[in-house]
Amino acid sequence: MTRVIKFGVIGCGLMGREFASTAARWLHLNGTKARPEIVAACDLNPELTGWFSDNVPSVTQVTDDYTALLANDAVEAIYCAVPHNLHAKMYTDILAAGKHLFGEKPFGIDAEANATIQAAIDAHPELLVRCSSEMPFFPGAQKVIDFVHAGHIGEVIEVEAAFLHASDLNPDKPINWKRMVEVNGAYGCMGDLGMHVLHVPLRLGWKPESVSAILVNRFPTRLNDAGERVPCETWDNATITGHVADANGGFPLVLKTWRIAPGHSNTWSLRVLGTKGSAAFSTGNPRQWRYMHYHGGAQAWQVEDLGFQTLFPAITGGIFEFGFPDAMQQMWAAYLDELVGGDANGFLCVTPAEAADHHAILTAALAAGTKHSVEPVAYR
Ligand SMILES: NC(=O)c1ccc[n+]([C@@H]2O[C@H](COP(=O)([O-])OP(=O)(O)OC[C@H]3O[C@@H](n4cnc5c(N)ncnc54)[C@H](O)[C@@H]3O)[C@@H](O)[C@H]2O)c1
Repeated sequence: MTRVIKFGVIGCGLMGREFASTAARWLHLNGTKARPEIVAACDLNPELTGWFSDNVPSVTQVTDDYTALLANDAVEAIYCAVPHNLHAKMYTDILAAGKHLFGEKPFGIDAEANATIQAAIDAHPELLVRCSSEMPFFPGAQKVIDFVHAGHIGEVIEVEAAFLHASDLNPDKPINWKRMVEVNGAYGCMGDLGMHVLHVPLRLGWKPESVSAILVNRFPTRLNDAGERVPCETWDNATITGHVADANGGFPLVLKTWRIAPGHSNTWSLRVLGTKGSAAFSTGNPRQWRYMHYHGGAQAWQVEDLGFQTLFPAITGGIFEFGFPDAMQQMWAAYLDELVGGDANGFLCVTPAEAADHHAILTAALAAGTKHSVEPVAYR
């Protein structure tokens, strides 16, 4: 029988409502062991909590005080999707209240905040804590991961993982909290997008021992709500090159977290090049992944059209399209499965250890980018 896990949502903005949609159409998935039911919603903005009251019939508590939600005994697990400067305080309070946590990246505004969260996680081994990162659940991304696991790569020549946005190319786009150092963090675009590009490399064991980084702030001012130009100090684009050691001298891990990538809208991509085989996927072309086997002779990429071939089975026919809301639902299915003792069908959401490793890499990249140096990565 399907277990129902009662959830509270703290932060009912862009991502909080995305989870509400995921939970509302759980019938899309076939044969899951557990399903989420949202019973409580918290946000400072009454319009957003009102949206939950209007659209999510299972919600019985609406509040602007997250400690009131934490005191709700009916709530077993919490999705917390708030600005980065609130992660450390809220995540640790959630764990102290004995609730399972699905947190958002970057899992603390900086390495120090992440260490505070990690200490709270260590103190509560009975609680399941995972971090959001949905793009690797695209079927094409899973194909690349399976290709690597199957040993088709040989020696790695290079790995490139990118997350590309373009809307900040408009110099008149108003500033929001994601462009403010005190709320988003000094990492800038790396804090916003770094977990997305590091989830798969870290999962595959590709941990750089040192990094260099080129950081770009193309528009140092932006418009505020009053139409005035104010400083915009967050990094727009980061290109990080890490050195991953292996038995034969190692290889580059190239990470691109770009807010200004002309022509791109939420494009996540992964490309692995190797001596025996190569594989690539981009959400820019969401049906297809590419691969090449090389044993001497022709070097020819093969392109395979994929349909709805997902980690967690769904009612959608295999020939149909997969998209962003589906990736969100697959990610949530992985977390719910683990909550009731499953193995997430073999692909876990980001673990706290991976979140900590990602902070170590971004902290080194921030130092390398500002000092124009090569910095060692100090893993926890
Ligand atoms: N996984 C992804 O693809 C993805 C995409 C976007 C954002 N995110 C992450 O999700 C988190 C939230 O981002 P968002 O885009 O949803 O932001 P958002 O601004 O749309 O939503 C954040 C919400 O938090 C609320 N909030 C602020 N302070 C609060 C408090 N003290 N108590 C209760 N609510 C409070 C705000 O009112 C707002 O509604 C961030 O960590 C961000 O990095 C993840």
